[in-house]
Amino acid sequence: MSQLDASLSGQFAIGGDLTVNRLGFGAMRLTGPNIWGEPEDREEAQRVLRRLPDVGIDLIDTADSYGPFVSEQLIGDTLAPYRALTVATKGGLVRFPNNPNPWPQVGNPDYLRSCVHLSLRRLKVERLDLWQLHRIDPKVPREEQFGAIRSFLDEGLIRHAGLSQVSVEEIKAARKIFPVATVQNRYNLADRADEDVLDYCEANGIGFIPWFPLAAGELAKPGGLVDRLAKEKGATPGQIALAWLLKRSPVILPIPGTGRVAHLEENVAAAALDLTDEESATLNEAAPGAAQ
Ligand SMILES: NC(=O)c1ccc[n+]([C@@H]2O[C@H](COP(=O)([O-])OP(=O)(O)OC[C@H]3O[C@@H](n4cnc5c(N)ncnc54)[C@H](OP(=O)(O)O)[C@@H]3O)[C@@H](O)[C@H]2O)c1
Repeated sequence: MSQLDASLSGQFAIGGDLTVNRLGFGAMRLTGPNIWGEPEDREEAQRVLRRLPDVGIDLIDTADSYGPFVSEQLIGDTLAPYRALTVATKGGLVRFPNNPNPWPQVGNPDYLRSCVHLSLRRLKVERLDLWQLHRIDPKVPREEQFGAIRSFLDEGLIRHAGLSQVSVEEIKAARKIFPVATVQNRYNLADRADEDVLDYCEANGIGFIPWFPLAAGELAKPGGLVDRLAKEKGATPGQIALAWLLKRSPVILPIPGTGRVAHLEENVAAAALDLTDEESATLNEAAPGAAQ
């Protein structure tokens, strides 16, 4: 595969009016070890960002907690002002190094408002294209958190809003207060616990952004289904994992992340990789965790 064009993955309109190529980029890895501090190779991280438009990627996912602040800052410093590029970010988690729970939730509405304003500043925009609540904070009534998001939309601070790591019940509760444009949950060939969330998103035109999209678990081990299929198709297991996601549902927007240009290019090449219906069905049926 030599074609490097993320637009081959098809398009999706976030919130019905913000059209992006479905294969995007996750910017969590443009940070130091354990997603803390500056990336070891800042120049390579910037080369990755600058390469995105060349390969047709027009959706970047980040969060204030990546670094913290490092990923957003790097995107702002490297790519702003953005041309035909949607930058989605998240807030609501804080970071402490060497803490048993290194990503605590903070859903206080004033804190969330501060997150939005600081993301605006770091990303150098007047309105965020898509702001997602990184996690619902169980210590704060969820209606207060959803109400804060509603006010960010009403005030034009953010264009669209989403949620992360949520159940169908939580999405329904949120939709009573603001239009949920995207849901970002962990989902990949090896972890399909959230099939019901994906189905709900598909039925309701909500973008489903699967995180950890490259994982294929046991299936990618030598001799496993994904490994065998990759060899047959002259692809890598990661490319099979991405192609499967793209075929699984038209609302899926995978955001593979990397700090290396070579890996970025390998991931984008998956947009040109077509799985047959039979190959896709075999992958659908493969039990996660089983080397079939
Ligand atoms: N909402 C949430 O709670 C949440 C949680 C986690 C992540 N996310 C988002 O989802 C994005 C993706 O998730 P993720 O980073 O956990 O998983 P991922 O994209 O599936 O995997 C990233 C890992 O795979 C490596 N990699 C990437 N491309 C590769 C390639 N072609 N060959 C070999 N290795 C490759 C990367 O290392 P190299 O840098 O060495 O390539 C990195 O270690 C993140 O960037 C972030 O935006 C969201």
